[in-house]
Amino acid sequence: MKISIINGPNLNLLGRREKDIYGERDFDSYFAELKAQYPDVEFSCFQSNSEGALIDRIQEDGFGKADGIVLNAGAYTHTSVAISDAIRGIRVPVVEVHISNVAAREEYRRHSFMAAACKGSIAGFGLDSYRLAVEALLNILSR
Ligand code: DQA
Repeated sequence: MKISIINGPNLNLLGRREKDIYGERDFDSYFAELKAQYPDVEFSCFQSNSEGALIDRIQEDGFGKADGIVLNAGAYTHTSVAISDAIRGIRVPVVEVHISNVAAREEYRRHSFMAAACKGSIAGFGLDSYRLAVEALLNILSR
């Protein structure tokens, strides 16, 4: 089983940015722990601050390189029709993830262009949101 994790803008700053919202931990150390919890899953991880690079990666993973995608599109969640079109255009399931509870934050974070294109959304559980998304994908993919 191949699961791709795709992180959007500013998620390279985890552990350094707005720690009160996103926590103290950097993504690399969390990712190592996540991989250890699922030894049978082949994980890949990609982060970009650029919308086009995220779309390129979604397309690559969505046509053969991965069985499922965990996507945290960061702020593009709330702006990008192009990323939601990419999700709709590929063959593999995508689960939307947010570290923070976007529904409980600013009004402009309450709308997601990703949500309707994804299998489902998980938000508000800190970095554990990624593990919950992996669980959801494994369930979908084992059906
Ligand atoms: C985020 C929420 C977004 O609104 C924000 O722009 C981010 C991170 C989250 O994981 O909570 O960059 O996607």
